[in-house]
Amino acid sequence: VTEPSPTVSIAAFLEAGPEEQQAIAERAAALYEEHRYLAIVDHGIDDAQVRRMPDIAVPFFTAPLEHKLEHLARTGLGYLPSPDSLGLPVANNPNSPHEQFIVHLDPSKNPWPTQPPEFREQVASYNRAAERLCRLLVRMMALGVGIPVERVTEADDAPNASFLKFICWNPPAPSESPSETPSEPPSRVGEYRLAPHFDNAAVSLLKNVARPNGLQVLRAGEWVEAWAGPEALVVLFGEQLANWTEGRVTACWHRIVEHQPEYGDDRLRLSSCYFYNPEPMLEGVELYLAGRAKYCEACDAALRGESVVKQTWTRRFRWSSTSSALNHNPAPSTPRSPMSRHPAISLAPLFDGTPEQKKRVADELLRVSEAQRYVCVRDHGMSEGLAVETEELARRYFLTPLEAKLEQLAMRGLGYLPSPAILGMPASKVSRNEVFLAHHDPQRNPWPREPAEFEATVSAYNAAAEALSCVLLRAFALALDLPEQHFVDQVGTSASFLKLFRFPRPEPGEVAEGSYRLAAHHDYSAVSIIRCREEPNGLQALTAANEWVDVYPDPDSVVVFAGEQMTRWTDGRVTPSWHRVENPRPDHPGDGSRTSTCYFFNPECMSGDVEGYLDGRVEFARACADHLQGHTVERNEWESPARRI
Ligand SMILES: [Fe+2]
Ligand SMILES: [Fe+2]
Repeated sequence: VTEPSPTVSIAAFLEAGPEEQQAIAERAAALYEEHRYLAIVDHGIDDAQVRRMPDIAVPFFTAPLEHKLEHLARTGLGYLPSPDSLGLPVANNPNSPHEQFIVHLDPSKNPWPTQPPEFREQVASYNRAAERLCRLLVRMMALGVGIPVERVTEADDAPNASFLKFICWNPPAPSESPSETPSEPPSRVGEYRLAPHFDNAAVSLLKNVARPNGLQVLRAGEWVEAWAGPEALVVLFGEQLANWTEGRVTACWHRIVEHQPEYGDDRLRLSSCYFYNPEPMLEGVELYLAGRAKYCEACDAALRGESVVKQTWTRRFRWSSTSSALNHNPAPSTPRSPMSRHPAISLAPLFDGTPEQKKRVADELLRVSEAQRYVCVRDHGMSEGLAVETEELARRYFLTPLEAKLEQLAMRGLGYLPSPAILGMPASKVSRNEVFLAHHDPQRNPWPREPAEFEATVSAYNAAAEALSCVLLRAFALALDLPEQHFVDQVGTSASFLKLFRFPRPEPGEVAEGSYRLAAHHDYSAVSIIRCREEPNGLQALTAANEWVDVYPDPDSVVVFAGEQMTRWTDGRVTPSWHRVENPRPDHPGDGSRTSTCYFFNPECMSGDVEGYLDGRVEFARACADHLQGHTVERNEWESPARRI
């Protein structure tokens, strides 16, 4: 708390010459990597205007509910009450009750509140200034990490989906004035106002008022307060900037902890956060707003007195843009470090060991996973014969004629998915590949007739991978000193699926320099279980020391990645693994093709995300079908909101 904020002056940057600008940008990037937030001063936004944010929204949130409901976000923009306030059932929501008001950058889209009267003018003008500042910050960070500034620069008139979100916790009852409200003990201390997450935006611009206020960022495995002075703005960078900069700017994990007694008596907390969502995020934001609109339908139903059973609104409507920059990286790749990998860990004690032996293995698993950002495990309970057979059947499946495979085209999100190049579709920067996506629930998959054993074997493989996933969850729980069943008890009906991948040998000249078979990303799963060849196979992980290293599994072992859901479950104690797949190098064994078997273990709380992901596959499959019928498919519309699960 006593250390100075990582402060960056925008005026100094703007007034500097090119060389000095470069130095300031590099310093800003280094400060951000160290602190995981920036405090921005001399930012050019009128001081009085900044000071009014977010208090401008207090009169709105403290107005009677009926008044607020006149601005219900039926289009996704506007007022979003907390489920509790309308008597809607809430399940598994880690965030304490709050209300929101979402304001789009485009003023014509918003249902503007009439109270206070200056709300519209003030907020619209703040948004315009925030947008300019965010665009400048993105260019500064690109300069600082050595990414061509053109890649992250948008034309002034480019369509854009930025919005401001006011969030209000514990508004006082309308009859009471805030100063008279007796301070009750916080109802849900120990939980979150906002559970750990990172934003999808390129930039999030926050104004925090009092200190401390509970905003914390995850820095080197520890949660620390993020604080900027009264005239400063807090900046967090999100997934879109991580995508644009290929992970060189890290998306910031943050959270808001529940009100603590030392924060003072006033439990009202208002935050205002401006999200800069550039053009590649347009469709993702639409999906997000559609989710809000759906929630408002449930609100309307509750207000009519209908009973609302299903809480579709509690699903996380997340998105991510797969900007083409992700799959095409003209910058040189980070040098590979020499092989100094940890050998595969035997999981045998987890099946039949003493409690002490189990704990020892679990600790080792977490330690290696955190250091290497991947871990290879053996004696994992999955039959080697079954795995080998699955891979052989996958290989044979991909060798069947394209027309046969197209019978399993993923018209419902599951089944066969060729990359656009395989069908001769336009303008894709994705490496040529084919995928068979097999849901854990075998009844959902369109199975091929050939090879004959494909359905039974792949289904058995999925069941075995599901069982291993639960073993891994128990190990993570033990390593974190939680009850062994802690995570397994939360799994529910999983939405896991298997991806069988095949990348054919690239044609001469096909591979653009610096492009990847799979660009850097982390998985959204709780854990991912990967089987691939033992030799250099292109798979790389970004270690805790920020180095890309080759992943060579030992024989009979599988590679385990921790995914974002595990990070969320463990409050950041387990780090999600960034990984990528390189195009074949000269030392690639064999003919340069690659097959792999990737199981994504997705607990029930992710089912909304998974369905959203599968919807994206449906959209792509329809584009394939259109193309095959001779219709011109011009835009890779399916590529933009697609989530990389
Ligand atoms: Fe956030
Ligand atoms: Fe992955």
